[in-house]
Amino acid sequence: MLTAGPTYEPIDPVRFIGNHSSGKMGFALAECFARHGAQVQLVSGPTNLTVSDPAITLTPVTTADEMYAAVLERADAAKVLVFAAAVADYKPRVIADKKIKKAGNELTIELVKNVDIAAALGKQKKDDQFFVGFALETDNESANAAEKLRKKNLNMIVLNSLNDAGAGFKHDTNKITVIEEHGATAFELKQKSEVAQDIVNLVWERLHG
Ligand code: PMT
Repeated sequence: MLTAGPTYEPIDPVRFIGNHSSGKMGFALAECFARHGAQVQLVSGPTNLTVSDPAITLTPVTTADEMYAAVLERADAAKVLVFAAAVADYKPRVIADKKIKKAGNELTIELVKNVDIAAALGKQKKDDQFFVGFALETDNESANAAEKLRKKNLNMIVLNSLNDAGAGFKHDTNKITVIEEHGATAFELKQKSEVAQDIVNLVWERLHG
């Protein structure tokens, strides 16, 4: 099971809080796992991408709450869970039912915390499940990623940094470091399809030795 893409948190009927995730990394992973024989449940926020492999079941969602509900339904049956989505950490406390009109020089929108999907699932991880998280960082990259590995009870976390040219959001390429409890493996900049293969290889090694 994989999460991919951004989440959109509505403010009113025409506006939302979102981010630049294209879904490319998550979809590349889904394709790669499927090519290697997995039945893949792909839960994705809004993207322009489609899937062609019949082994991939795509469940489109919009908000973090919808993504969490879809993930909860599918998590129990999953052996490997990959959290590649860029989930909005906060959502508006109130969604206006009509378009908010321009008035005054300032507008304050109160935000409340979204559920942390990976962390919530991490709390109920079964012994035979393998969790892979992602960390998109801009500073203190390795330390922040290692902290997320621990806090979310992940088996590995894939660090991509916005300080590396060609890495992270939108690009067809990515440059990753995979961090595990006892070490880190760094990879060169490459196509996201090749990055996906590197991650699948590592997961396979950890599961099957
Ligand atoms: O989609 P692309 O354009 O190809 O870009 C790929 C990517 C940069 C989006 C992807 O590689 C990536 O890094 N995804 C995670 C980005 C992120 O939001 O990381 P984070 O540090 O905020 O979250 C850490 C981990 O917790 C992630 O596995 C995330 O999916 C998960 N999380 C975070 C918040 C939340 N509320 N629920 C979560 O499950």
